[in-house]
Amino acid sequence: MTTKVILDLDTGIDDALALAYALGSPELEVIGITGTYGNVLVETGVRNTLAILELFGRSDIPVYAGLPHARRRDSFEVLEISEFIHGINGIGETVLPEPVVQAEEGDAVEFLVAAVREHGEDLVIVPTGPSTTIAAAIEADDHFAEHARIVMMGGALAVPGNVRPWAEANVNQDPEATDLLFRRAQDVTMIGLDVTLQTLLTTEETAVWRELGTAGGDFLADAADYYIRAYETTAPNLGGCGLHDPLAVAVAVDPSLVTCLDINLKVDLAGETRGRTIGDHDRLNDPVKTAHVAVAVDVERFLAEFMQRLTSLAEKTRATEPAAAPMARR
Ligand code: BDR
Ligand code: CA
Repeated sequence: MTTKVILDLDTGIDDALALAYALGSPELEVIGITGTYGNVLVETGVRNTLAILELFGRSDIPVYAGLPHARRRDSFEVLEISEFIHGINGIGETVLPEPVVQAEEGDAVEFLVAAVREHGEDLVIVPTGPSTTIAAAIEADDHFAEHARIVMMGGALAVPGNVRPWAEANVNQDPEATDLLFRRAQDVTMIGLDVTLQTLLTTEETAVWRELGTAGGDFLADAADYYIRAYETTAPNLGGCGLHDPLAVAVAVDPSLVTCLDINLKVDLAGETRGRTIGDHDRLNDPVKTAHVAVAVDVERFLAEFMQRLTSLAEKTRATEPAAAPMARR
């Protein structure tokens, strides 16, 4: 029995790895992808998603462009730090062929709302970028807010932020949207920096992909190496790059990879702590806890699953190395 999943991506290098994790997971049926702004403009993210789907032979999955900027803004510009970490094209300046298949004409919010109405609790939504499009779906339909199962990458409960002392990058882009999500959605698992900065990838692992000699292996290795190099500058203490978004997908497949704290969450919206994800004081004694924050992770098991799934996915893509020449006869 497979779990249906919709990814909401700002593709982004670790979003690309998350997408690959989903495609490499037989337990998941990816029924669609919505694209958001964040690491890149929404158009760039959608293009990257389509190109990666094509690379892995999965252009059958529909992709919808979501909202292009935060709720309280009328435009979006990519932050310098995002360009540094993900590259200007979002996928570490790797070059993928222009996708043949285009994004769907339909509306991402309508797609999300209809999917939850159709599949209910059999569907998991995995947002790995700013919460803007998901918040719009919550506002569009109470049924979505009540029945959507959301496993999101974002936030930080017991560790500092990564773009500002209090704020994690995805929440920082649109704090109002994540706050609305935490207050209205009834089943949210938060995969934040508390756990994602414990799951690190190094060049030792990416070398495995490079050795495959396939287009998929080269792409994964080149993009991840770019990401690892950026982390060597921004967080040299870690000794690798954080597998933020793939961990959220992995938890959608297997919730037992993390241990969660049940809590009602909110986002600080004013002052120097704007963007902080924290317990909602007003709902402290509410017996119903709508959020589950991952506070511990089985690092070894996750990394093993991650490598196995991405490596077998990449193995099946076309060879890039010419076959060895036959031995000349004497
Ligand atoms: C999150 O921010 C983005 O840069 C990554 O893709 C990830 O979703 C980590 O804070
Ligand atoms: Ca992301």
